[in-house]
Amino acid sequence: MKSIQSKDLDLNKKKVLIRLDLNVPIIGTKIIDTNRIDKIIPTLNFLIKSNAKIIILSHIGRPKGNIINDLSLKPVCDFLVKKLKKKINLINENIDKIKIDEVFNEENNIIMLENLRFYKEEENDDSEFAKSLAKLADIYVNEAFSCSHRKHASVHSITNFIPSYSGIQLELEVNSLKKITESIERPISCVIGGSKISTKISVIKNMISKFDNIIFVGGMANNILKFKNYEIGKSIYEENCKNIISEIFDLCKKNNCKIFFPSDVRVGKNTKDKSAIKSISEISVDDMILDIGPKTVNLIKDIINNSNTILWNGPAGYFENPEFSKGSEEIAKKIIERKKQNKIYCVSGGGDTVAVLNYFGLTSDFDFVSTAGGAFLEFLEGKELPGIKALN
Ligand code: 3PG
Repeated sequence: MKSIQSKDLDLNKKKVLIRLDLNVPIIGTKIIDTNRIDKIIPTLNFLIKSNAKIIILSHIGRPKGNIINDLSLKPVCDFLVKKLKKKINLINENIDKIKIDEVFNEENNIIMLENLRFYKEEENDDSEFAKSLAKLADIYVNEAFSCSHRKHASVHSITNFIPSYSGIQLELEVNSLKKITESIERPISCVIGGSKISTKISVIKNMISKFDNIIFVGGMANNILKFKNYEIGKSIYEENCKNIISEIFDLCKKNNCKIFFPSDVRVGKNTKDKSAIKSISEISVDDMILDIGPKTVNLIKDIINNSNTILWNGPAGYFENPEFSKGSEEIAKKIIERKKQNKIYCVSGGGDTVAVLNYFGLTSDFDFVSTAGGAFLEFLEGKELPGIKALN
């Protein structure tokens, strides 16, 4: 991958097409989570400082080739104007009709094209469409790791028609993930939560041979407890995953990877309830397991103390109610304590984990927090991402 920060790349007055992932949750015109936008501000500032003419590309939502006003990039464009304190012209015109040299002038050096998925050609990885995009600029930058698992025109085919570079965040993300998949400093442990074991099975299978410990928490642990014939009451779990779990246990045994799951938990009768601590053999039929218990927290802290690398994906409980947020908070704080002593490399990712770290205001204390969903998981599954392959 050639980096946008390469010393021999002169960006002065160059037209730069930058593919971002501005696919953020919006209600009305309000952006609910700005993490993805906040992360790419330094890259845009780098381009501004380099005196480049910037053409922002992104999608939002899944309009499937239709123009849907609610999926306009306008709220994101307005947000960026405030953040960068620069004018940004949002262009609605058909890409083939844009007269690019007329849209830039002394005062306007940044434009944004409207939602790329308003064109069906984008998701079809259409070469002609990619060529039309490429014609708008001198160089292309992929700064959208979280879209790089999609074989779409603006992340894939486009690289056939224009010199292409990796963005600052994309490079950081790939390098951080390599530290937990390739150049690992062992022992390495993985804390894995969330509820659907089937969505993470490929990641678990691919990573088992590399991991020393896998710790199941959250809804994921409920599946293991049920498999082990414990009563889990009204707790969430996934149907029909016995075979998956038994395969995980077999693979762990073969690969010398230890599996841990809770020995005690915090339960309530519903998510709004007060919490009660119970051993896993004391759960009643009307209980909901909503967090890990203190003995389990201590065990996880011990494992973290003895790890040099950690991957955390998925909260330990229903952190939205403070009665059930202790497990996630204690895990996060222990990881950060070790990180501050320079004893651990810590990566976290997946929507809910980002949400939990934001909730406690701890996101910036991790070595790397991925805001990518599907791309993060596919990378960990060992798949080659089309957008990254295209840059290579
Ligand atoms: C994401 O939110 O993971 C990316 O923006 C990709 O979106 P998609 O799943 O709709 O392709």
